[in-house]
Amino acid sequence: MGTLKIYTYPDEVLLKKAVPLENIDGEVERLANAMVETMYLAPGAGLAANQVGRPVRLVVLDVTRMQEDASQGLIILVNPVIVEAEGKQVFEEGCLSVPDYAADVKRAARVLVTGYDLAEKEVSIEAQGYLAVVLQHELDHLDGILFIDRISRLKRELYKRGVKKRMMKEG
Ligand code: NI
Repeated sequence: MGTLKIYTYPDEVLLKKAVPLENIDGEVERLANAMVETMYLAPGAGLAANQVGRPVRLVVLDVTRMQEDASQGLIILVNPVIVEAEGKQVFEEGCLSVPDYAADVKRAARVLVTGYDLAEKEVSIEAQGYLAVVLQHELDHLDGILFIDRISRLKRELYKRGVKKRMMKEG
């Protein structure tokens, strides 16, 4: 499959809720592997399937580039769900689908996420700090939510205005 095109705001595919996968077949495996390759090349810490134009509940992430002491390397999750969330933390986020922009986002400090791996085995991941941020960011994507939806309305409007201006310039 090679590397995949990453869709950027305001593309519609990013703003819709992704659907659960009903089985994990070779096609899902190929998509996941291509997403991993695309994420590492970008480079980014995570990628959700709708960012590459496939509106299904599949995410890949690896925080070890940003956090060398991370307890987990590559994580691939099918139909992930946040089952516990507690505390608060603020972290400056960016997104491959929201190029050239970063802003502080407030999220839970600790999350417990469950889902399935590519072998259809149920997995659960307890995360804090940066890994918890990336998990919440990627799971948001599956619900059509971008990090710019979690910043102040004023900041969001300024960002959107900038994108519109750029699009008009590019014709
Ligand atoms: Ni993102």
